[in-house]
Amino acid sequence: MPKKLILDCDPGLDDALALLLAHGDSDLELVAVTTVGGNVSLANTTRNALQLREYFGFDDVPVAAGAAGPLTGPVVDAAYVHGASGLGNVTLAEPRLAASEIPAVDLIISTLAEAPGTIHLVATGPLTNIALALRKEPRIVDWAASFIIMGGSYTRGNTTPSAEFNIYADPDAAAEVFRAGWTVVMVGLDLTLQAVVNEPIVARMHALGSLGTDLVAPLATFWTNPLDDDWDGQALHDVCAVAYLARTDLFVSKPARVEVETTGEFTRGMTVVDFHSTSPNAIVPTKLDVARFWDYVHDAWGTVTPHG
Ligand code: RIB
Ligand code: CA
Repeated sequence: MPKKLILDCDPGLDDALALLLAHGDSDLELVAVTTVGGNVSLANTTRNALQLREYFGFDDVPVAAGAAGPLTGPVVDAAYVHGASGLGNVTLAEPRLAASEIPAVDLIISTLAEAPGTIHLVATGPLTNIALALRKEPRIVDWAASFIIMGGSYTRGNTTPSAEFNIYADPDAAAEVFRAGWTVVMVGLDLTLQAVVNEPIVARMHALGSLGTDLVAPLATFWTNPLDDDWDGQALHDVCAVAYLARTDLFVSKPARVEVETTGEFTRGMTVVDFHSTSPNAIVPTKLDVARFWDYVHDAWGTVTPHG
């Protein structure tokens, strides 16, 4: 039986490849996609999700738009990384199919309510939709089969020295999510920075045919960090979160207590991770079997025939 999942995302270069993995792996069944403002505007993340749905071929999966910005505080984006559109220099056909008329929060709640304990919730963008869903229906903590995020870090940030982007974009939402009473699988930067797209990996992407040359490789190589002297390639952060669901065996994890700083002048958005807590609320992957991860991801991506 494939594992069913809802993917809440902000496509986004790596979100797009996470969607490809969720669709391509026959051991996973994508049942809903919800979008949030994050890397780029909600309008752009939603358009990107609609375009990717038709390009990858999961037209029967609903895509619902959610929050445009954080619960409180300024709207931030990462267009400097993902490009103005959010998909780098990749251009896809305008979507034929519209987004669902159901708002993301209601789709998350209703999907989980209809099949309690059987659908996993994965979030790869700011956690605003998740926090709003928790406020509206706290029982989703019991209904979700598991809850996995790409976000946070137990060492350094990538948006500030202390904060990773998804948490920094909405620290108040993240704080509520970690305190909701469920166990959060926090796939943070310390793990995802092990999934680096170096030259041999780019070559494997090109071996995927037009899917690789037209989409996977361009998305995976669009961003290079001019400030990083020993730059070896992008990390596919969000792909790791979906991979954790499908292939937990590729990860070594530890329990921890995670709290989110929401007021610090220099630390707002920091995930404070206590691996020695006696009241853990999270599972934090720390090590990735990198070679098997890339074998798995390429095999799953390779099952998808692009449309258009
Ligand atoms: O910090 C990496 C995260 O921020 C990823 O989810 C990426 O898509 C961006 O949203
Ligand atoms: Ca993302």
